[in-house]
Amino acid sequence: MPTILILNGPNLNLLGTREPDVYGADTLEDIVDELRTLAGARGYEIVAVQSNVEGELVDALHAARTSAVGVVFNPGAYTHTSIALRDAISAVELPVVETHLSNVHAREEFRHTSMLTAVCVGVVGGFGRTSYRLALDALISHLES
Ligand code: DQA
Repeated sequence: MPTILILNGPNLNLLGTREPDVYGADTLEDIVDELRTLAGARGYEIVAVQSNVEGELVDALHAARTSAVGVVFNPGAYTHTSIALRDAISAVELPVVETHLSNVHAREEFRHTSMLTAVCVGVVGGFGRTSYRLALDALISHLES
């Protein structure tokens, strides 16, 4: 089965306890389990990676080049700062869907800018864990179009 990488950046390992009013009560494991079931039903395998380290996220994108057909990526705060991740997304030439639990545009001004959106196929945000489901669905539609 083709593989989709679910890539999560800093602090997302704390989902479930981290600011639940903003990010919800579900853990990252809950979210990934659901994506694994949904993807499996459509003929895709899920590999999930979370790291708090920018360079490890770059490495995961590089590895996906030969092991995955696309990426659902919540870069956390690196969304707003990381030219290294932007360059990695451009370099690997894989479809990447930028994904956020919260509506970053309804929050602090520093969250209104993304370094990454311009090199992603699209962006989904503001729907809590449903953002991941929507991102996966959009990625699969993109892959099959
Ligand atoms: C986030 C939004 C970012 O601004 C924030 O730094 C995160 C999570 C989200 O999923 O809503 O860590 O990517």
